[in-house]
Amino acid sequence: MIFRQFNFDGCLAYVIACERERKGAIIDPSHEMDPFLDFAASYGLAITHIIDTHTHVDHVSLAPELADRLGAKTVMSRNTPAQRELGAKVTDLFGIEKVLAENALKRVDLYLGDGDELKIGDITLQAMETKGHTRDHMAILTGDRIFTGDVLIIGQCGRTDLPGGSPRDMHESLFGRIMPLSDDLIVYPAHDYKGNINSSLGYEKVNNVCLKTERTVEEFEAFLKGLFPPLDATTGKLQCGLSTMEPAPEGELGTLMKSFCISMEAFLATPHEETVIEPEELLQKIVQKERLFLVDVREPKELQQTGFIEGAVNIPVREVAMRIGEFPKDLDTPVVVYCASGHRSSHAAVYLRAYGYRNTRNLEYGMHGWQDRHYPLSKMA
Ligand SMILES: [Fe+2]
Repeated sequence: MIFRQFNFDGCLAYVIACERERKGAIIDPSHEMDPFLDFAASYGLAITHIIDTHTHVDHVSLAPELADRLGAKTVMSRNTPAQRELGAKVTDLFGIEKVLAENALKRVDLYLGDGDELKIGDITLQAMETKGHTRDHMAILTGDRIFTGDVLIIGQCGRTDLPGGSPRDMHESLFGRIMPLSDDLIVYPAHDYKGNINSSLGYEKVNNVCLKTERTVEEFEAFLKGLFPPLDATTGKLQCGLSTMEPAPEGELGTLMKSFCISMEAFLATPHEETVIEPEELLQKIVQKERLFLVDVREPKELQQTGFIEGAVNIPVREVAMRIGEFPKDLDTPVVVYCASGHRSSHAAVYLRAYGYRNTRNLEYGMHGWQDRHYPLSKMA
């Protein structure tokens, strides 16, 4: 896969392309044409589709202009005509109405419904309707990553007080659609003003202020009321992804998460395979006291309930990035991770291999398989 993120003052755009066929798509282009044209030319890419995840209110889309230059189709949601009707009713809103009017004139060649797919060479891009920021918002799912547009940005969600926005729809999109997706997905949003390049969905589920607390629709509406600064052209607070919350201090976790996501992205871009270890083999290694760094990535209370495998260190999967310093310095050390079923630990295994622990394996069947075989367990002191 060929992939590139472009950052224009916090507005993020992407090129994703099939390496084999050299065909690709551009997502959410804005500000300047040349970076996209230069990138496509330098990789010899035929750009076939240019996608806007939603009708933008803070910048004018470059999709049709780029499509004309590149011979591509412009793509938006099937709900874009309805969003444009809403936008046309806005007559005086700090200049937003002018951006909306300009974007409403941009032609759309192809409308996508929920679940519709675009196949571009070996890459499949799937539309996922995720209203709330606008009526026509869609996220784009592909393989190990999700382009979240403004439904989920790093640390929070996009504004819901712009034309077509709805806290109720945002609640459904975040908790009904985004939350059930895999923790492993790398999140690529349409905005980030803090210099993050991406996140992982697992990290966002635990740390994002809009996701980490389960709220009823009513509670979520009340929470969002205080989250977004008032729209104000004089202070420039018209962007889609601003919040009133003080940004979290850039501590150890934030820095690690950034390097972690960069590492993971590099790892996923190279050929790799997930390796597992059967319970029988792990038991044998423990009995023979082979060199092994064994990690139980469950929550501490789970270890208390069931016990744990002898010699295991407990580092919950959500803390792996933060506690990477507790892993062996020698990246060739054999590492085995396990959880209850093997699901969470498969994420941990990907993360650790992304960090360079080449010899990381995931215990097949997890603790369930271990218990089924009546293998020995240690108890918490
Ligand atoms: Fe937006």
